Amino acid sequence: MKILYFGGGYVGACSAAVSADSGHEVLVYDINQELVNSLSSKDKDKIEAYLFEKGLGDLIIRNQARIKFTFHLPEAEKFVEAAEAVFMCLPTPERDGTGETNLEIYEAAAKTLAQILVKRNNGEQSRYVLIINKSTVPIEMVSRTKEIMEELGVKNFGTGSNPEFLVEGKAIEGSIRPERIVVGAWNEKDFAVFRNIYDRFIEAPNVNYLEVNPLEAAASKLLANYMLFNRLANCFDVVGRVCEKFSGLHFENIRKILITDSRIGDWGFYNSLFVGGSCFIKDARSLSHQLKNQGGQSDLVDEVLAANQRQLTNFLNRAKQELNFNWAGKTAALLGLAFKRDTNDIRNSAAIETAKFLLEAGVRQIKGYDPAAGNNFLKYFKDMGTADKIELVDSEVKAISDIEILIIAGDWPQFRELAELIKKNLPKGTIIMDGRRMLQQKYQELAQAGYNIIAVGSPIIKAE
Ligand SMILES: NC(=O)c1ccc[n+]([C@@H]2O[C@H](COP(=O)([O-])OP(=O)(O)OC[C@H]3O[C@@H](n4cnc5c(N)ncnc54)[C@H](O)[C@@H]3O)[C@@H](O)[C@H]2O)c1
Repeated sequence: MKILYFGGGYVGACSAAVSADSGHEVLVYDINQELVNSLSSKDKDKIEAYLFEKGLGDLIIRNQARIKFTFHLPEAEKFVEAAEAVFMCLPTPERDGTGETNLEIYEAAAKTLAQILVKRNNGEQSRYVLIINKSTVPIEMVSRTKEIMEELGVKNFGTGSNPEFLVEGKAIEGSIRPERIVVGAWNEKDFAVFRNIYDRFIEAPNVNYLEVNPLEAAASKLLANYMLFNRLANCFDVVGRVCEKFSGLHFENIRKILITDSRIGDWGFYNSLFVGGSCFIKDARSLSHQLKNQGGQSDLVDEVLAANQRQLTNFLNRAKQELNFNWAGKTAALLGLAFKRDTNDIRNSAAIETAKFLLEAGVRQIKGYDPAAGNNFLKYFKDMGTADKIELVDSEVKAISDIEILIIAGDWPQFRELAELIKKNLPKGTIIMDGRRMLQQKYQELAQAGYNIIAVGSPIIKAE
């Protein structure tokens, strides 16, 4: 099958690479030339320097005979002549903190797509094409997609929905061995197109291939993300908070007890200073907005969002409240700049929010370190015009020296090994703020060595 992708970011590039690996002929059209050049480079390091997803470089290179990336619209126009499906993988950001989805980018891309679709087959549009929303979109978006196409004269097409459930950092592994594939279509003809696209997965063991209507497919993405977000919020705002307020409770022990109840399960049962990333916050806000628009109650969704913000504020305020620490003029190390391990994606990351708090509080300098996301982090603050106090360093060793406070905001596994470095490099009395409980096995040892520890899910552990 020939499949066109509109948008080659995290979702488009990963999904396209897996489609090529399934034997389809794939073209990815994206307006970002730098991205297209990196993904076309046939160089694993260059690809992953741009989009850090484990396995993405290898998969693209291995399937290079079947996957191409372009920013030239005429190339997409030629390809679409014989394409049977087009995946829309465009950003769908929130509009100015309102929860409403800003569809400007999506609609601009849809219009460009319509302009090339009307020209296919010498304007006769004799070949049927299915236009599929892979972007996370409002529940009723599929009608808007149809409307845009019809307004611009596109004929002989269907519209469907195929939400992306990828987990950043495990996107390739997860897409090659997916837990489920959700396809939303209005009729048998479109389900048949989807079955061709996902042929390799339909009979595969352990894959739930679910056929529903496009509204259900779009809604399920927002609802699934809300359920996961809610779970995380419960872990830090209820379980973690109880462990912070009662001394003698160890988060890990309580965790062990709760997760051995199979009804509770262990997914996401960790403590964290903030849930970031490009999806959870945006999608919960969108769900809340859509519910309210339909006259529904969104209190529980809103409370999860509030709990996330509360967790961050609580954590960062503890240095002042519990140790009378004054941030002004201090140098802080900030470790883990991506929103989680195994990615260079910094969207809504805890570190971004933390750095904003530190800058506001008047710190002298932030020494930031991340194994993959440093450049994206620095660029974010450069673009905001507030990077002058941020120094990017290229190792934990350089970050953990000449500082007054250390903040662990990310969960890269190597951060679990930092205790020795701390003891070697930092003077007694330095504050260690562990926003991920990465050092939880060493808290007593570090306190005995003279450090003050503020960790999510623990009362303060003072230097002995
Ligand atoms: N990142 C995730 O983990 C994830 C997971 C599931 C769903 N989603 C959803 O998928 C969608 C895409 O997310 P993403 O993370 O891939 O975003 P992204 O920003 O990484 O990628 C989007 C790409 O679209 C391109 N683009 C913008 N305008 C275009 C146009 N007119 N024509 C062609 N390309 C254009 C951009 O250049 C960019 O490369 C969003 O709706 C998001 O909510 C993301």
